[in-house]
Amino acid sequence: MTTCETAAPRPAPLKRDDIPGWFFSLDRAAFGHLLTAQSTAGVTGDILELGSYLGRSAVLLGDHLRPGERLTVCDLFDSDAGDADNAAEMEMSYRKTLTRGAFEANYLAFHAALPEIIQAPTSVLADGRIPAGSCRFVHVDASHLYEHVAGDIGVARAALAGDGLVALDDYRQEHTPGVAAAVWEAVFTGGLRPVLLTPSKFYGTWGDAAAAREVLLGRDWREEGYTVDEDTIAGVRVLRLNHQVKAPVQPSAPRRLALDLLPPVATRATRRVLRTLRERRAAQPARTV
Ligand SMILES: C[S@@+](CC[C@H](N)C(=O)[O-])C[C@H]1O[C@@H](n2cnc3c(N)ncnc32)[C@H](O)[C@@H]1O
Repeated sequence: MTTCETAAPRPAPLKRDDIPGWFFSLDRAAFGHLLTAQSTAGVTGDILELGSYLGRSAVLLGDHLRPGERLTVCDLFDSDAGDADNAAEMEMSYRKTLTRGAFEANYLAFHAALPEIIQAPTSVLADGRIPAGSCRFVHVDASHLYEHVAGDIGVARAALAGDGLVALDDYRQEHTPGVAAAVWEAVFTGGLRPVLLTPSKFYGTWGDAAAAREVLLGRDWREEGYTVDEDTIAGVRVLRLNHQVKAPVQPSAPRRLALDLLPPVATRATRRVLRTLRERRAAQPARTV
């Protein structure tokens, strides 16, 4: 494998959000809840991530390691991809910014030691180097090509212990139909049971999905500003989690009626005056009683 162009060194991140990547607060909350619940319940096991980029999700996975547990990450980083489609994907999305050195620097900004790093296509994991049944959580977020994702799901299945959880990224994005195909194929023909859907990730298990859903429902997500919905897919219950959408503030009904009845020029002028008054009010120091 040859090394490709190197990216300019970037300063070490000060906080986790400074690490570039696609791991957002909703899934951070879901990962945190599920991994903490496993630890609280005394579930032990390793954690595996396929596709780490600059470490944004790996750093959080590392936060949840308990004594004796190991995090393994597998990524091409600055190595060549094994086929032309994967190479094109790497070129388009990651090459300009991704090096193994940058991943390591980011990870070490938050943890004392690096995880186990396998710098290679995820297909190498099919050789069984991750001991069967050794993992409690696997995050699949590498190639978006159907054949690769199907293989990655197979690796996750072999690596996971009975009730272990898999999180599959980009299962419903417009530009990743191959991921969708591989994920739903695993559900309908491979025994994967859905547990939770977020806009970015599918969470499932080959074990007890009902127990995993109960773990999620044990938290009052709505109170914290999330929406929780329940769907049934081919007879299987699945939760959906998202952020609550804040309703835009509407002008009061009489004020809107007045604005609607005025001719357009007068409406524009009135809106300008109202805006100026609002801005002046906002600029005034707070009144003390
Ligand atoms: C979407 S990024 C991962 C984002 C990361 N999990 C995060 O949350 O910030 C996808 C990563 O998969 C890696 N990748 C793509 N194809 C791969 C393959 N066949 N084998 C291993 N890694 C691959 C890329 O190098 C890239 O770092």
